[in-house]
Amino acid sequence: MVIKTAVFVKSSQKWQDCPEPNMPEYAFIGRSNVGKSSLINAMMNHKDLAKTSQTPGKTQLINNFLVNESWSLTDLPGYGYAKVSKSLRKDFEKLITNYILNRKNLVNLFVLVDVRHTPQKIDMDFMQWLGESSVPFSIVFTKADKMKSGGADRNVEAYKTELLKTWEDLPNIYVTSAEKKTGTEEILKFISETNQF
Ligand code: GTP
Ligand code: MG
Repeated sequence: MVIKTAVFVKSSQKWQDCPEPNMPEYAFIGRSNVGKSSLINAMMNHKDLAKTSQTPGKTQLINNFLVNESWSLTDLPGYGYAKVSKSLRKDFEKLITNYILNRKNLVNLFVLVDVRHTPQKIDMDFMQWLGESSVPFSIVFTKADKMKSGGADRNVEAYKTELLKTWEDLPNIYVTSAEKKTGTEEILKFISETNQF
């Protein structure tokens, strides 16, 4: 997919305040600092469309972008950020779960996972919940440039094994690097194939 235009539309604190749900929407989610905003920028060929930071917890609102005037892209706050207070963490969780369960035009959720790690409970629990809630999702492994060859494959395989303990089918899986801009075309191809209402 050629990105002709990508513009920031709005930041919202809750799903009710998001732009009218009149276009197919794709959202990016994952643990804090996993690389959601960086991947969005890499996909959009834009240096700082979505704000990135070395400090986890940078994205605290639901950020909506309009792409090619035809589909909507959402940068969500990260989950599982240990350094904020428990009540704030709960607020984030509520914001995220409400958005996911109520956003009518959400076509697919991309769950980002750092490829350097073996399966983490928080991510497995989250995907389990998505499956049980019938939310369509794909897994996007990030920061592949930080791994020597072979290491990434091992962790991806470990995730697949873990998922197949509970589910019969695997979701789509993408291995990406925002730094090297790898894997982004595959995600855009999936979006272009599915973004018709
Ligand atoms: P929150 O908004 O805080 O939840 O974080 P986020 O998931 O949006 O992560 P963000 O894109 O801000 O990136 C976090 C850090 O990881 C930044 O320092 C990025 O430069 C770095 N990073 C993200 N993607 C990659 C990647 O593919 N490769 C490398 N080497 N670093 C990356
Ligand atoms: Mg972010």
